[in-house]
Amino acid sequence: MNVMTAMTRKDEFPGLAGGWHYLDTAATAQKPRGVIDATVRAMGADYATVHRGVYARSAQMTLGYEAARRRVAAFVGGREEELVFTRGATEAINLVAYSYPRKGRVLLSVLEHHSNIVPWQLAGWQVDVCPLTPDGRIDLDAAEAMLTPEHTMVAFAHVSNVLGSVLDAKRAAELAHAVGAKLLLDGCQAVPRMPVDVAALDCDFYAFSAHKLYGPTGIGALWSKHLDAMPPWQGGGSMIDRVTFAETTYAAPPQRFEAGTPAIIEAIGFAAACDYVSGIGLEAIHAHEADLVRHLRDALRPMNDVTLFGPDESAGIVSFSVDEIHPHDLGTILDEENVAIRAGHHCAQPLMEHLGVPATARASFGLYSDHTDIDALIRGIERARRIFS
Ligand SMILES: Cc1ncc(COP(=O)(O)O)c(C=O)c1O
Repeated sequence: MNVMTAMTRKDEFPGLAGGWHYLDTAATAQKPRGVIDATVRAMGADYATVHRGVYARSAQMTLGYEAARRRVAAFVGGREEELVFTRGATEAINLVAYSYPRKGRVLLSVLEHHSNIVPWQLAGWQVDVCPLTPDGRIDLDAAEAMLTPEHTMVAFAHVSNVLGSVLDAKRAAELAHAVGAKLLLDGCQAVPRMPVDVAALDCDFYAFSAHKLYGPTGIGALWSKHLDAMPPWQGGGSMIDRVTFAETTYAAPPQRFEAGTPAIIEAIGFAAACDYVSGIGLEAIHAHEADLVRHLRDALRPMNDVTLFGPDESAGIVSFSVDEIHPHDLGTILDEENVAIRAGHHCAQPLMEHLGVPATARASFGLYSDHTDIDALIRGIERARRIFS
């Protein structure tokens, strides 16, 4: 099947109506009608609580919720008992930072999102920082030299939300395991744009968010094969075995990590998003976004006043700056042209410091993006240059 034909899908996304050139999918993806419909059904005709009801609707919803867990786990090659629903990737990483019992030194990298920096600091880990290669990848040779038996965790972005650079996750796993550390992958930007199989990657923890995968906000997941070894980190209903004032015992994972009434509607929508994306195929999406990245970088490269960040081969995300135009001004002018980009530090202030800029402009693609979006972006940049010249 021709990739471009397969990807001409804007009509399936109500949020893209009116010819909006949405180039901020790395922040959050627009939702296809199938996902919206699944959540509306879950909130309407199918709605009831889970895990507690003695009536048929609740039992049915419980089946739906647990089927969603199975679906999301399978989406990354895992099993249902290995998958905890969280509020998002941020909460998934916090869960590991607080609950993993062998707290010690964690190796992060310069390009991490704040969600993969601050939780470790707050939970009292000692943080070491792996540098980047000149083209903006995590420097795994440097990681190898830095890692010691004192490191109990390595936590890297699978795909950078600023540079689009893709980690050699398998090698990162080998390096982490060689010193007895675990590998956590922040998969927020990877799961929407490439096939992910946690077994093949040999990672220990995988964190991701539904809303970047064309699903609802307010839900994400932590996959891990080490949940049994981890104590609960939040208490409440649903996560217990037996409660007395003298002592409380806890449910087995994953329930142990899901205190309170869960995000039922969102879980159903999350599974629908996995179905939608799998139906198109992650290989096809990856190829499509790689084509768009090439096209945009080829268009920007000849512009003398444009700086391109990150490697040429990046996954669906291009960061750049235009001399004499602050990214915020560029974003505002582009908005007048019906083009939405992200301008700012992208929740990666240490990376901005490394790049020597306060902010970048970032165009990020989704499976619905096409060359018309890039053409509109280039027209907008040319107009901004005229205004500022
Ligand atoms: C690489 C990366 N990690 C973590 C996050 C945090 O995701 P969320 O806000 O959905 O928890 C993001 C979101 O921008 C991201 O791009």
